Amino acid sequence: MRIFSIVGARPQFIKLAPLSAALAAGMHQECIVHTGQHYDYAMSEKFFIDLGIRKPDIHLEVGAGNQTVQITQMMLKLETAMQKEKPDLVIVFGDTNSTLAGALIAAKLNIPIIHIEAGLRSFNRTMPEEINRIVTDHLSKYLFAPTQTAVDNLTKEGLGNSTFFTGDIMVDTMKNSIAIALEKSTIVADLKLQNQPYNLLTLHRHYNVDDKATLEHIINQLGELQEKIIFPVHPRTKKMLAATYTAPKNIELIEPQGYLDFIALEYAAKRIITDSGGIQKEAYILGKPCITLRTETEWVETVKEKWNLLINPSQKNIASQILNFIVPLKQPNIFGDAVTEKMIKIINDLN
Ligand code: UD1
Ligand code: UDP
Repeated sequence: MRIFSIVGARPQFIKLAPLSAALAAGMHQECIVHTGQHYDYAMSEKFFIDLGIRKPDIHLEVGAGNQTVQITQMMLKLETAMQKEKPDLVIVFGDTNSTLAGALIAAKLNIPIIHIEAGLRSFNRTMPEEINRIVTDHLSKYLFAPTQTAVDNLTKEGLGNSTFFTGDIMVDTMKNSIAIALEKSTIVADLKLQNQPYNLLTLHRHYNVDDKATLEHIINQLGELQEKIIFPVHPRTKKMLAATYTAPKNIELIEPQGYLDFIALEYAAKRIITDSGGIQKEAYILGKPCITLRTETEWVETVKEKWNLLINPSQKNIASQILNFIVPLKQPNIFGDAVTEKMIKIINDLN
């Protein structure tokens, strides 16, 4: 089969890596299509290098823009690419604007779609990602669900017959990369963190970072933690932090990191504080306490198992809640294993 794998944003390169490697070893012909949603070296190319993904076969170079412009540009260029290349199958990942644009055009051209990371719901429709996921799930023919909750959500929406409980592909990316990261990465030493407990922080959700007062409230609250915090700053967040803004002394702002350096930082961290979806999962996989600065999460199992604490970012006692959070000793497997293998088997059986 001729397969289009459509990616565009940082977390999608991470989900693509093991699948693309497995497809290359098999009987299908994969075309990697990069929409260009993320374009900085540190947000895009670095991941292809770190994860050994070959250069995209098609690069649409759409770049940043308001949602409508971005999605429309992607759709126009994807339609041209799909009409020319005539894929038999389109694979989309996660819940970004690139996911939605890929699904809409494939559906319009009657090309079957696999949605990897299907069935996630925050039940918060103010998130652009929630709209992208719902539409993509309902347009896709094959839904690869990462968790039991995702399977249940899809079943409730009448999509049970299209659903495959595969587990989460990010488990395989982590398994394939962690030893390499620990051997190659010097980031922990470079930041002089070897003998120092530290927290790792990321923030990029629009409701946390697009309003300057909200973002500064969160950062000032974390200043009260009085523990070292390493903060790789997403470009969206960087735009909001004025050049003149001085973060509290315990918080060290650094550039966004490549995958290998970032997972090395996660591995050595005492605790992870985030509003990212992928990082909540990685915290669990690496056995790190996770604080999620959101009022809800799609990864409800991590909260149920008491390894992830949701904190409403508007609160004024964030530091004390973080300090009081203690994780249990046990940790059941939520995200599965040998996930890529299961996905490839399903894809091979579609022939
Ligand atoms: C997007 C996804 C989000 C995902 C996140 C992963 C949507 C709706 N959102 O959010 O689900 O969690 O990626 O990181 O698709 N920018 C740069 N350089 C880059 C990329 C972005 O400077 O390489 C800046 C641009 O100013 C851009 C802003 O960041 O306007 C936001 O980028 P965008 O891709 O629209 O959304 P993210 O917040 O990255
Ligand atoms: N990540 C990274 N470098 C960073 C921050 C995050 O490599 O500086 C990786 C992280 O390991 C995870 C993924 O990016 O696999 C999460 O992406 P992000 O938080 O941008 O998006 P989300 O998962 O929320 O959609």
